[in-house]
Amino acid sequence: MAHGLLKGKRGIITGALNDQSIAWKVAELAAAEGAQIVLSNAPVAMRMGEINKLAESIKAPIIPADATNDADLEKLFTGSVEQLGGKMDFVLHSIGMSPNVRKGKTYDDLNYEWYKQTLDISAMSFHRMLQAASKTDAISDWGSVVALSYIAAQRVFPGYGDMADAKALLESIGRSWGYYLGMSKKIRVNTVSQSPTMTTAGSGIKGFGGFYGFAQEMSPLGNAPAENCAEYCISLFSDLTRYVTMQNLFHDGGFSSSGVTPQVMAKFTTPE
Ligand SMILES: NC(=O)c1ccc[n+]([C@@H]2O[C@H](COP(=O)([O-])OP(=O)(O)OC[C@H]3O[C@@H](n4cnc5c(N)ncnc54)[C@H](O)[C@@H]3O)[C@@H](O)[C@H]2O)c1
Repeated sequence: MAHGLLKGKRGIITGALNDQSIAWKVAELAAAEGAQIVLSNAPVAMRMGEINKLAESIKAPIIPADATNDADLEKLFTGSVEQLGGKMDFVLHSIGMSPNVRKGKTYDDLNYEWYKQTLDISAMSFHRMLQAASKTDAISDWGSVVALSYIAAQRVFPGYGDMADAKALLESIGRSWGYYLGMSKKIRVNTVSQSPTMTTAGSGIKGFGGFYGFAQEMSPLGNAPAENCAEYCISLFSDLTRYVTMQNLFHDGGFSSSGVTPQVMAKFTTPE
């Protein structure tokens, strides 16, 4: 049921690759809540063509942008302001990729060229995006920016490799830009740390089934589905959260605060 939470608002949503993507669900829900949206993804991801279906169904223009390319990002912001007829009220950064993880390079055997790419695509892109937005003055006062993170920024999850470092940097960039954009424009910037979710990026992690199952059993509410992550993002884009900024917000069914659960204990308890 829609509540009109984003009625009259304009936003950019990056990272919708297919209907599993968290960004796809955010885009659908943002449109249902009354927003006008521009969709964006890397030109190479566009070739798969899936995004066109989403664009048609929610009547959103698409502006391709490689998130590691500053000129592309400036065009994304100026083009969005032009196409939607005003500044953006919200932006979603939903971008992540590690060549090391993809090619099975473990944390103790990283390829450093790929490591640079991991950091650029998955974290520096967030800085680049906000710098482009700032230079083009494309976000409204009291606007809201969200990027998606994962708890490997704080704790070690073997298999998540160099993406853990990228997420730590991403969260720090969110805090820092939250300060600068808060001071200059009252714009808020937050990261949402989401449960393991079955998507293209998620299932590219070695042993993802294990991550998913462990988190499921360690979370009092269970893993948070992508649809509910979308709802949380919408709440952060809405006017109901105007003073929430510079935070890393866990959307994880309680995983981050749980020590152990009976389900996990049972695996180590011998019957008396
Ligand atoms: N799936 C999970 O378990 C999980 C958990 C926590 C956080 N996240 C984060 O959520 C975000 C979205 O991932 P997802 O799980 O929906 O997977 P996804 O694979 O659907 O989305 C990742 C997106 O990043 C885009 N991308 C990659 N390189 C790019 C570039 N150079 N320029 C622009 N876009 C680029 C891809 O095209 C894709 O659309 C990522 O930041 C991911 O790390 C995912």
